Amino acid sequence: MGDLLCLEDWQRAAQARLPGPTWGFLQGGSGAELTVAANRAAFDRRVLRPRVLVDVTKPDLGTTLLGDPLRAPLAIAPMAYHRLVHPDGEVATARAAGECGLPFVVSMFASRTLADIAAATTAPLWLQLYWLRRRDALADLVRRAEAAGVRALVLTVDAPRVAKRLRDLRSGFALPADVTAANIDPAAMAVMARTGESGSSIQSHSREQFDAAITFADLAWLRALTPLPLLLKGILTAADARLAVEHGVDGIVVSNHGGRQLDSAIPAIDALGEVVEVVAGRVPVLVDGGVRRGTDVLKALALGAAAVLLGRPVLHGLAVAGAGGVTAVLSTLREELEEAMVLAGAPRLSDVDAELVR
Ligand code: FNR
Repeated sequence: MGDLLCLEDWQRAAQARLPGPTWGFLQGGSGAELTVAANRAAFDRRVLRPRVLVDVTKPDLGTTLLGDPLRAPLAIAPMAYHRLVHPDGEVATARAAGECGLPFVVSMFASRTLADIAAATTAPLWLQLYWLRRRDALADLVRRAEAAGVRALVLTVDAPRVAKRLRDLRSGFALPADVTAANIDPAAMAVMARTGESGSSIQSHSREQFDAAITFADLAWLRALTPLPLLLKGILTAADARLAVEHGVDGIVVSNHGGRQLDSAIPAIDALGEVVEVVAGRVPVLVDGGVRRGTDVLKALALGAAAVLLGRPVLHGLAVAGAGGVTAVLSTLREELEEAMVLAGAPRLSDVDAELVR
């Protein structure tokens, strides 16, 4: 692992290790993958405006989010089926999150049980949800999340159905028989089993099982179910951010699903400013999509993000070296952020403001 110095190194090492179809599922996006590329370009287009002659001997990256202390303004984005890339799956990821003192957003389609994941970690766990038509299955999952000590729910709102992903169709990607959604009632997943769980059946499954009719008004049903804080993930406009706050959400994740849903959607970092402005500090605003360097995190913080979620690089670390790989990836990003803050003359998060980025 000694020669893996940055997140791009881990990406290359993961690609060399994983079967082609698995790599395509992990790395790919929807349509022409314009948004996957745009997420990266939007970071690279921005530049930092460092201050000098500031005492930077004691950089402090610590923060709190939804009442939990974090060692850095970073968290692990929800991603389905970690067992695709490592036999320990989400248990290993959770262990790494605990070692790093960072929250782990567990996907509704996690391939290990919530109980096993929770037993492996001291990290704050959040659970990501898609809104299933089977509300009883959704309610049951929320109850198990509460029992497992989950600290928040993250409802993903950019996926009324799963987008078509050409890489998966071309490669014939299919989930291996031993990689399943460990937290979902098998009855609710019966359609998937019948259709053989190919890339295209993940899509058809989403059309049958996801409730594409829900609106902001339905959030009240979820709120009534549980006192857990509720975040919405997949907001990209000021209009929807305003509605989200009006409907009482506890946080917003500005996200285009890492370019895996609406292709040509605006890069999340480009949408962040208008969301932060309209939310006006009432709830934390997080962002994800294309974060690969400490300077990317600093740019997102300067544009008003309370924290940044990291997606694919976590699975790269997991694929290459299990829990140790995830810890290395998260530690590398944290160290890069610390260095960026020191060199930018902004040693505390409270020093990071819009003046820092152009
Ligand atoms: C995802 N993402 C995702 N999001 C979600 O809300 N529920 C999910 O189950 C998944 N599953 C998933 C699987 C894989 C393999 C990937 C790569 C992504 C989206 C994820 O949470 C996040 O928004 C993006 O991955 C962030 O972009 P980067 O960091 O991967 O560029």
